[in-house]
Amino acid sequence: MTATLNLSSNNKQERYQQLLPQLQALIEHESDQTANLANIAAALHHSFNWLWTGFYLVKQQQLVLNAFQGPIACTRIPYGRGVCGSAWQQNRTLVVPDVEAFPDHIACSSLARSEIVVPIHNSQGVVCAVLDVDSTQLKHFDTVDATNLEQIARWLSPLFS
Ligand code: SME
Repeated sequence: MTATLNLSSNNKQERYQQLLPQLQALIEHESDQTANLANIAAALHHSFNWLWTGFYLVKQQQLVLNAFQGPIACTRIPYGRGVCGSAWQQNRTLVVPDVEAFPDHIACSSLARSEIVVPIHNSQGVVCAVLDVDSTQLKHFDTVDATNLEQIARWLSPLFS
């Protein structure tokens, strides 16, 4: 396994295209959930310079903080609350261009301006975790992020079977 990522493009879609095969290689021979979630969070975070990149796992009807990169964050999020709990409840990716315009946004960092949350499903198709990313810039996330992060979420699904 290589311990470094090779990324040359500054175009977002091209950067994802370069990154995704390297992420797949990073996790394909490792079955440990924590090891893989930690490496994916780190790889994404440092490839795109986001404010916060991490996972919340469904435990006893709450989302509980798991592997992440960035400032300290709230540890538990109830079902249906915040962007994360809403993505879990609605079972879909939520792209929030302006967190201040999202009525129930949970502000873990005052620097966050936009956010994307992608559900991860287990083998029964039930949401078992979310991938959450925050940016300091308004309108930072779009369908390019959603499509690529959803692909990563599918690769992570076997870790929750
Ligand atoms: N903003 C999230 C909370 C988690 S932090 O962004 C890391 C939310 O509204 O659910």
